[in-house]
Amino acid sequence: MTETLTINIHRSPVSRLGELDPANIEFGKLFSDHMFAVDFVNGEWQEPQIVPYGDMAVSPANSALHYGQAIFEGMKAYRTAQGGVALFRPLDNLLRLNASAERMCMPALPEELFMQGLTQLVRLDAAWVPEAADTALYIRPFMFATDGLLGVRPSDTYRFMIITCPVGAFYNKPLRVRFEEKYVRSAEGGAGYAKNAGNYGAAMYPTKLAQQQGYNQLIWTDASEHRYVEESGTMNAIFVINNRIITPALSSSILDGITRRSVLQLARDWGMPVEERKVSTHEIIEALQTGTLQEAFGVGTAATIAPITAIGYEGHDYELAAVDNSAFSRRAAAALQAIRTGEAEDSHRWMVEV
Ligand code: COI
Repeated sequence: MTETLTINIHRSPVSRLGELDPANIEFGKLFSDHMFAVDFVNGEWQEPQIVPYGDMAVSPANSALHYGQAIFEGMKAYRTAQGGVALFRPLDNLLRLNASAERMCMPALPEELFMQGLTQLVRLDAAWVPEAADTALYIRPFMFATDGLLGVRPSDTYRFMIITCPVGAFYNKPLRVRFEEKYVRSAEGGAGYAKNAGNYGAAMYPTKLAQQQGYNQLIWTDASEHRYVEESGTMNAIFVINNRIITPALSSSILDGITRRSVLQLARDWGMPVEERKVSTHEIIEALQTGTLQEAFGVGTAATIAPITAIGYEGHDYELAAVDNSAFSRRAAAALQAIRTGEAEDSHRWMVEV
C-alpha cells in the first residue's frame, strides 16, 4: 500500500527481536518493537503516531476500566513466498471494528487511518513477521475510552491503538470441549456479535470450570434454552455432517468471524453444501451416536482451524473419529494457508500487501 497519510514515527533505539525464540512462541507474550496510537478528542481523530512499544499512562477513572467501554480486533500478517508481507482481509476487520464501536457508543475509525496505521506499523516491524509454517504476526487493533470520569455515560475521548506479536499455533492438539448447559456467553439482543472486552472477561469463569473438568474449551449454547449451538470458546463452530458443512447462523449473540466466512466461502467454491442455520445440541449428539458427524472444529483468527476430538454433554463424553488430510477442515486449513502465503491464487482478493 502506498503511504497516503503522514504518521509521526518515533523509532525505538533498540530492537527486542533477539528475545524471540521462533521455535517456542507463546501467544501474546512478546510484542514487536513499535505500536500505533491515535487519540479521539473534541470529536476528531488527532495526529497518529507510531512509538516504541511500552507502558502508557491512562486515567484510573476511564470507563474502559470501570464499565468495559473497550473493543478489539484480531488479525494476522503473513510472510509470502514472494518475499513480501501481506495482511488477510484487513477491511473486514475494520468493518467489524466499526460495528463493535457503534454497539459500544464509540467513534468509527476512518478507513485511511486504519489501513495506514496498520500497514506502516507492520512495514516498520516487518522483521517480526515469523517465517516458519503455521506462524504469523498477530495484530491486535483496539480502542478504549479515555475520559477521566466515573459518570456512567459514553466517554467523549478515546484512544485507538495497534500492537503486534509473532504467534505460532494457538492450540497444539485437538480440543476436548463440552456443551455449556448453565452459563451464557451472550443473549439475543446483547452484545455478543461485537468484539467488546466484556464478552471475553465474562467467559473466563465458565471456561475455567470446564478446564477444571478436563476440557480444553466449551461450546456456548443459547441463553434461553441451552438448546442451540452458538460458538466454541473464542471461535465460531463448524460441523461436517453427511458431507454438509453446518454452522450456526449469525445472530446478535454470535461473532461474525472472518475465518468462519472464509472457510464457508472455500466450501462453496468447492461445491459443498453449506448450511447456516440453527444447530441443536441434540442434532450434534445424534450425529455423533449414528456416526454421521464427520468433523467438528472451531475457526478463528488466533486459533485458525482447531479440530475438536471429543464433545461432552450431560456428563457423557462423545469421541469423534480421527480425520486424515482429505477431511474438509484439513483441506480448508491448507488452502487458507496457501492463499495467505502467496502459494495459491488469491481468487477472492483477500490479501493486501503492506
Ligand atoms: C482472535 O481469534 O483473534 C481473537 O480475538 C480471539 C482471542 C485470542 C481473544
